[in-house]
Amino acid sequence: MKITLSTAGLSRTPFLVIGSGIAGLYTALKLADIAPVTLITKETLEESNTSYAQGGIAAALSPDDSPDLHYTDTIQAGAGLCLPPAVTALVNEGPERVRELIAWGVPFDTEAGTLVMTREAAHSFSRVLHADGDATGREIIKVLVQRVRTHPRITVKENHYAVALLTGEDGCYGALVLDENATQTSFLAEATVLATGGCGQIFTATTNPAVATGDGLALAFLAGAPLADLEFVQFHPTVLHLDGAPCFLITEAVRGEGGLLRNKKGVRFMPSYHKQAELAPRDVVARSVWLEMAKTGADHVYLDLSLLSADLIERRFPNIYETCLSYGLDITKAPIPVAPAAHYMMGGVAIDLYGRTALPWLFACGEVANAGVHGANRLASNSLLDGLVFGHRIFEYLQRNRRRQPALPPELAAVVPTETNPEHLAADRLALKALASAHLGIIRREEDLQNAKRRLAPATPPAPIPLNRLNRPYLELQNMRLLVRLMLEAALTRRESRGSHYRVDYPVPDPAWQKRIVLSSTGTNWAAADQPFTWSW
Ligand code: SIN
Repeated sequence: MKITLSTAGLSRTPFLVIGSGIAGLYTALKLADIAPVTLITKETLEESNTSYAQGGIAAALSPDDSPDLHYTDTIQAGAGLCLPPAVTALVNEGPERVRELIAWGVPFDTEAGTLVMTREAAHSFSRVLHADGDATGREIIKVLVQRVRTHPRITVKENHYAVALLTGEDGCYGALVLDENATQTSFLAEATVLATGGCGQIFTATTNPAVATGDGLALAFLAGAPLADLEFVQFHPTVLHLDGAPCFLITEAVRGEGGLLRNKKGVRFMPSYHKQAELAPRDVVARSVWLEMAKTGADHVYLDLSLLSADLIERRFPNIYETCLSYGLDITKAPIPVAPAAHYMMGGVAIDLYGRTALPWLFACGEVANAGVHGANRLASNSLLDGLVFGHRIFEYLQRNRRRQPALPPELAAVVPTETNPEHLAADRLALKALASAHLGIIRREEDLQNAKRRLAPATPPAPIPLNRLNRPYLELQNMRLLVRLMLEAALTRRESRGSHYRVDYPVPDPAWQKRIVLSSTGTNWAAADQPFTWSW
């Protein structure tokens, strides 16, 4: 549905940042050095995927480590689809970005004044920094939020939900936004940065908070910016599976410190699946856990911490220890029941090496974006770093290239998604999540994917609902539904298995498929795996 601007009030800002995880907060802080920024977020500044990140942030900061080693590990985990220049930027610029966080006051854990680094799966070196043991995201967010809230050039708009991007003859002009009183405002910006995070809420079991509904992906797609690699969803292998408890992440760092995976019979199984055993790449561990559950007819496996002392567990993993204890499980005495859950979207809005999307003056960074650093399987603890490095690259670009504050163009479009007219929003949302979980999970097959696609195809296009009835739950459901359709398309198209995308009917990687699937409103296209996206603007 296309709407006209006259329906909404106008607010002008040089830079508009949408989203408040590490990528949004950090980019807003950097851009504020150039000009005033308006940051909108759909709940509070504190609520994002970043806040729940436990393990940490990977960077080659130790004297014995090197960006080259980090590069090799990232490329190997990415199963042939990482973009080399994007990974080079990540590993070379990452250490500087992390030093910046330290200078801003992020309290990464130290011992005798030296940063403590841990090892996580598929890293050849201990290079993962953490804060307050296993509360790294929370500690980073605290510092960034405090800086954003007190910054004289950043205006924060909480409980503001982006309904659609505003587009015109010269690309993106900002966003149409709904506040908690259902008032619509058009924020007109010189440059707009999407940093809205991922879409784990598409699945029933996910480590992502309720806000992770993939809004930015849908907004970009509907405004004309292509999305790439949507078939690659990362499932975290070890998520708490306990009656009455939420899907709480049990960081990979627990395995890095010696945690072992055992099936319900108590048998350690990872050595029979991969030579790196519990520290194999995340896609391998998630699939092995899934297979082991299927073989033993169980809905979980166990993470055995008996090699870790009680003191180490309480000191190194205080957040996990306390949370499990609050559900009656003392992890210093008993193993943790765990199962895989959706965790991270490798795919995203296609960006070039400076965070530019195909739509002029629309940028993206963090989980919503896809520069190609993660390939088909993200290396643990590279996501927070990705948000910083590409946020900084957007800043560098805008420092050198400013657009004149756009005059209000004669015509401005905002495409509002209208996938379906739900009878009961909550029930429809649950049904969509069940469908995605059943057909787009760790193990996929043609028949299931086709079946899900048929079920999502509307018989007739639904009638658009009046603008004054647009609300966040309705729009989130539209966005999620659109994304599930696109993810099904990508998963059906890729007839091979690679990284996190496993097709039982095409179980091995096919060299002919070492390319990226790009979806746009004009259809399905390919991109070379080793070439950055380039745009004409
Ligand atoms: C974890 O702590 O295991 C998650 C870290 C990540 O997703 O990179």
